Amino acid sequence: MNESILITGANIGLGKETARQLALKKETKKVILFCRNQAKAEAAKKDLEAQTGKKIFEIIIGDVSDANSVRKAVEKIKEPIDAVILNAGGMVGKTAAKLTPSGMNELAATNILGHVILVDELIKHDKLRKAVLYPSAEAVPGVKMLGMKPVAMKTSSVDEFAAVLDGTYFGNKFDVTQAYGYVKYVATMWMLSMARKYPELKFVVVSPGNTKGTLAPDNLPPAMKFMLKNFMMPIVFPLMGEMVHKLEVGAKRFVDGISDERYKSGVFYASKKGKLSGDMVDQSTFFAPLRNSTFQDNADKAVHRFIK
Ligand SMILES: NC(=O)c1ccc[n+]([C@@H]2O[C@H](COP(=O)([O-])OP(=O)(O)OC[C@H]3O[C@@H](n4cnc5c(N)ncnc54)[C@H](OP(=O)(O)O)[C@@H]3O)[C@@H](O)[C@H]2O)c1
Repeated sequence: MNESILITGANIGLGKETARQLALKKETKKVILFCRNQAKAEAAKKDLEAQTGKKIFEIIIGDVSDANSVRKAVEKIKEPIDAVILNAGGMVGKTAAKLTPSGMNELAATNILGHVILVDELIKHDKLRKAVLYPSAEAVPGVKMLGMKPVAMKTSSVDEFAAVLDGTYFGNKFDVTQAYGYVKYVATMWMLSMARKYPELKFVVVSPGNTKGTLAPDNLPPAMKFMLKNFMMPIVFPLMGEMVHKLEVGAKRFVDGISDERYKSGVFYASKKGKLSGDMVDQSTFFAPLRNSTFQDNADKAVHRFIK
């Protein structure tokens, strides 16, 4: 039972809906909305209070792509937290390939850097009691019918993971839709490594699936955004079966992942092979690199090369 939960990127989309669903659970006493923008966070808090009738939301301001911002934010957390949902992220938009002061590009820094620091700092200061959930994506094992190839790294060495994080892996052709799957793979492998390092905590990786009603499509290249919003989401996906679902369903995957004992530490759960909705299954049953503990530890080492 999680009484207190911190969710990053909780002012909109899956993060906010997850906050709403968790607040309605009777055991929940506190939900911390970890957001980068004070005004958006205040608006979300007000709306969540109105929707749930609960005054259990607190705000912490922090930018997960900025190491110092996250460290300062953690100092404001006085009481230990039961569970953390590392939700902030996505494809970032036009600046995805731009390098941040950490040496990671913005795509990697947003999806990984601050989250690793957040978890490391919470553990170091004895402020994390039970569980961490990371949202990965079906882009990692790939979705053949959409032309999304599985992530295929040559060696999954520390150097190769580091090259994904600073973008050199992709050479001059940085395609954010491809890079996104690779960045989520690094984060997933870091989580699986953490699960072995901290067996007393639960580290679970969950894809929300292809979820309607978030701002995620807005960060896609323009042609893809147009296709997705006007053609794929409303017409094609609903005809294909188990390819898209509502915001409530995507967020419930996070709520279940963090609360339900059927979801185990050290496992990446997402849709069945080739699907983007429906039941969640252990992805390592058909995407073998997830089972390799050396690869997992290499991802952890690569991420920490960028954290001073
Ligand atoms: N939507 C899907 O179908 C889908 C599928 C697979 C995986 N996912 C994953 O699920 C997670 C949530 O996705 P979503 O679709 O709900 O995204 P979204 O609607 O775009 O919302 C993203 C949230 O993250 C916050 N955020 C972005 N960069 C941040 C930063 N540097 N520091 C702090 N907060 C930051 C945003 O804050 P602002 O409002 O301030 O920008 C917003 O609250 C992401 O990790 C995404 O990769 C989503």
